[in-house]
Amino acid sequence: MKKRLSVFLALLMICAGKTVFASAERPLQKHILVAYFSATGTTRPLAEYAAEHLHADLYEIVPEEPYTQEDLAYYTGGRCDREQDDPSVRPAISGRVENMEQYDTVIIGHPIWHGQAPRIISTFLESYDFSEKTLVTFCTSHSSGLGSSAKNLQPLVPETVTWLESRRFPGGASREDIASWLDSIGLKAEEPRAGQFSFDTKTVLLNSGYEMPILGLGTYALDHDTCVNSVMALLENGGRLIDTAYMYGNEEAVGEGVRQAMAEYSIPRGEIFVITKIYPSQFGDPEAAIDMALEKLDIGYIDMMLLHHPGSNDVNAYLAMEKYVAEGKIRSLGLSNWYIEELTGFLPQVNIMPALVQNEIHPYYQEQDVVPFIQEKGIAVQCWYPLGGRGYTKELLTDDTILGIAAAHGVSAAQVILRWDLQRGIVVIPGSSNPDHIRENLDLFGFELTPAEMEQITALDRGEKHDWY
Ligand SMILES: NC(=O)c1ccc[n+]([C@@H]2O[C@H](COP(=O)([O-])OP(=O)(O)OC[C@H]3O[C@@H](n4cnc5c(N)ncnc54)[C@H](OP(=O)(O)O)[C@@H]3O)[C@@H](O)[C@H]2O)c1
Ligand SMILES: Cc1cc2nc3c(=O)[nH]c(=O)nc-3n(C[C@H](O)[C@H](O)[C@H](O)COP(=O)(O)O)c2cc1C
Repeated sequence: MKKRLSVFLALLMICAGKTVFASAERPLQKHILVAYFSATGTTRPLAEYAAEHLHADLYEIVPEEPYTQEDLAYYTGGRCDREQDDPSVRPAISGRVENMEQYDTVIIGHPIWHGQAPRIISTFLESYDFSEKTLVTFCTSHSSGLGSSAKNLQPLVPETVTWLESRRFPGGASREDIASWLDSIGLKAEEPRAGQFSFDTKTVLLNSGYEMPILGLGTYALDHDTCVNSVMALLENGGRLIDTAYMYGNEEAVGEGVRQAMAEYSIPRGEIFVITKIYPSQFGDPEAAIDMALEKLDIGYIDMMLLHHPGSNDVNAYLAMEKYVAEGKIRSLGLSNWYIEELTGFLPQVNIMPALVQNEIHPYYQEQDVVPFIQEKGIAVQCWYPLGGRGYTKELLTDDTILGIAAAHGVSAAQVILRWDLQRGIVVIPGSSNPDHIRENLDLFGFELTPAEMEQITALDRGEKHDWY
């Protein structure tokens, strides 16, 4: 996978003659969020332009109780009229911005209702701690100007908020109109950042500077021939990410499948991303373990190597992997089965910030606390057992909630679960021995789960771990 040089250089620091890549002590990155409410679709594209221009995240403020045509008919004494007449009304919002702490600037788009922002914008402003952040609003309207709409929102947040100058746009304002307003208030495009997903390129930018596909294939429990076939099927159908491990006993098969697919389908090595892991039983002599993985895979270099799970000598094993990064034999490093406590103890002891943490995550075991903890550090999260795990998939794949959502989109239960992961910014590596499943698992970009559907799946969490390693 290709390396993003600018980011790589930004992360590469020269400290007293020692090269440190993406130091584990790097401070938290801060970002821009574009949040918008759009009842009839006029404000939405402008918010999308702003997010695209700034490389910012986009969040739709969705009312818990949707506004019907009748509600929206103004000067009829209907719902909107009543809400706008009463400044104390706070319509409930469905869902939340999970990590508001990671944003230092929030742009809020909304329509003008009776000369003011809809009351749901007041709900949004009172739902988070915006202290010390920069806020700015923009609105669309039929003909009204900004009036007092922006000023009247200011008392709803702490005084430590810095407000930038708001702007009213007519419906149909262009990308350029939005860009020139953002330029005029000094908001500049963010550099693509570590851990950021692109649904266009279907990749995530790692803190090592490399891009990794956001979906691929897991190979746990696949015997040699099945594994070669699955790897070939993945690569033939456009997949480019493969996860293996010393413990799965199939690194040779993965290497064979990769080499064969490169030859048969003319795929350059640089497009393919192979992850392998060394096991705690190997931590005592990590150099031998890494050399063996390089030899078994036989694909030139290893895109990413993980420590399979915590164990004695794990720090030393990681430091050994760092040496192989310096030699170009491994490109990125990561951890598997590391949680908040383990990461907190581990990170200060290593030099290269892990680029990835691979943990068990599925709708019955969601890690709602661990995932943001990892992502806030610019580390990508990847899930194992996305479908519940070989032998445990039946219950998840026949879950009524998931089947209902699947039916609404005309997709399978597996596709709904995998898409839910991607929309949480989690990389997926479903395991499969079946080329039809492999094709299906790659087909995740023709539909999008609504915030309400994301919430329905969130509600399925039972904290039910299916395995340890
Ligand atoms: N780091 C760790 O400690 C750790 C632990 C476990 C797993 N992993 C990694 O995570 C990967 C994923 O986990 P996993 O393979 O064990 O479990 P999984 O992906 O949750 O489930 C695999 C099972 O789902 C079935 N399946 C796949 N796609 C399907 C579809 N579209 N429709 C219906 N069934 C489907 C597979 O059957 P078919 O073969 O018939 O498709 C297989 O039985 C592993 O392969 C491995 O690479 C890592
Ligand atoms: C309840 C309600 C009140 C409105 N009040 C005004 C208004 O006071 N002035 C105005 O110019 N447009 C008003 N409009 C029109 C909207 O501001 C305008 O159509 C806006 O672009 C809609 O944005 P949206 O499609 O993103 O919801 C109102 C619309 C509704 C539904």
